[in-house]
Amino acid sequence: MDIVTLGSSAVAVSALCYGTDLIGSRINERDSHALLDVFADHGGTFIDTGNFYASWYPGCVGGESESTIGRWMAARGNRERIAISTKLGFDYPGCAGGLTAAEITQECEKSLRRLQTDHIDVYYAHRDDFDTPVEETMEAFHGLIQAGKVHVLGASNLWLWRVAEANMLSSLRGFTPYSVVEQRYTYFRPRHGADFGPQICITDDMKRFCTHHGMTLIAYSILLQGAYTRSNRPVPAQFAGPEADDRMAALQSVAAEVGATLNQVIIAWMRQSDPPVLPIIAGSRKEQVQENIGALAVTLSAEQMERLTRAGDPDVRKAWLR
Ligand SMILES: NC(=O)c1ccc[n+]([C@@H]2O[C@H](COP(=O)([O-])OP(=O)(O)OC[C@H]3O[C@@H](n4cnc5c(N)ncnc54)[C@H](OP(=O)(O)O)[C@@H]3O)[C@@H](O)[C@H]2O)c1
Repeated sequence: MDIVTLGSSAVAVSALCYGTDLIGSRINERDSHALLDVFADHGGTFIDTGNFYASWYPGCVGGESESTIGRWMAARGNRERIAISTKLGFDYPGCAGGLTAAEITQECEKSLRRLQTDHIDVYYAHRDDFDTPVEETMEAFHGLIQAGKVHVLGASNLWLWRVAEANMLSSLRGFTPYSVVEQRYTYFRPRHGADFGPQICITDDMKRFCTHHGMTLIAYSILLQGAYTRSNRPVPAQFAGPEADDRMAALQSVAAEVGATLNQVIIAWMRQSDPPVLPIIAGSRKEQVQENIGALAVTLSAEQMERLTRAGDPDVRKAWLR
């Protein structure tokens, strides 16, 4: 698998990241390890988890994903080949949530223990905490970097102005800035005013910001739980409408031209976009993971990229209707 360097750091990761919120919860230990093996056997080295995954799943309390990954890395002896991203900020049993210095110190130690490691490759603020001064948060994160417990800082579900504020403050105070941004993103564009609760989508503004500052953009929920290809998974209301219909038509035509699945074209489109977006793939079955990794073999022409990117734009729509 191709290798990507995160931000201006020296941390190199695979061109696809594997998302693990279901690992060790909905997906049992044996199947979880088998899925992680599929990803690693294809050269995948970048794994995304979170401290509270999957506290929302019946019978779980959080930490299941990290612990399962920790046991997998210990069993395979591959920790040095794997880059782990994990996060804090949401509450779960035993954790009040937020980004205070105390939470950051405590949750980092818990994640290290569960992952059976001495460092986290990418440590994210998983959501914002408007009650804690940004200075306190960034100083605490910087302390973890200085201690060698964390290698890169990331912001997930933060508004652009908050990332800018944190990085400006870090630059003034000599703290480590965020180098990675992880937000929600897919091929369909959210409808105006679409609500995703605490989740924040990648915007054109955020793309420009990341390009300007040499930051890496990472995307989650890229396949809308399989809605592009599965009739039993309706397109979520936040996306459904005429624009999504136009984009689906473009996706289908490009997929037919290149002989790939719709999901593969979405992943290829993200990777080839400007700026490139590093997709978090998921999948609860080997076939899904293999299909998603197969996107790495798909190359889209400049014309296909343009057609996909502009599908649903008002002027394209009008020209098409004429
Ligand atoms: N930072 C954040 O706030 C945040 C938020 C959400 C997610 N994430 C990260 O992103 C990861 C993925 O999120 P997500 O689950 O929302 O992503 P997603 O890509 O929208 O959905 C993944 C689900 O889609 C289905 N799927 C995957 N590949 C498929 C394929 N090739 N064909 C058909 N169906 C397919 C599977 O559903 P079934 O298992 O039902 O078959 C799979 O579990 C998470 O594990 C987590 O690491 C981060």
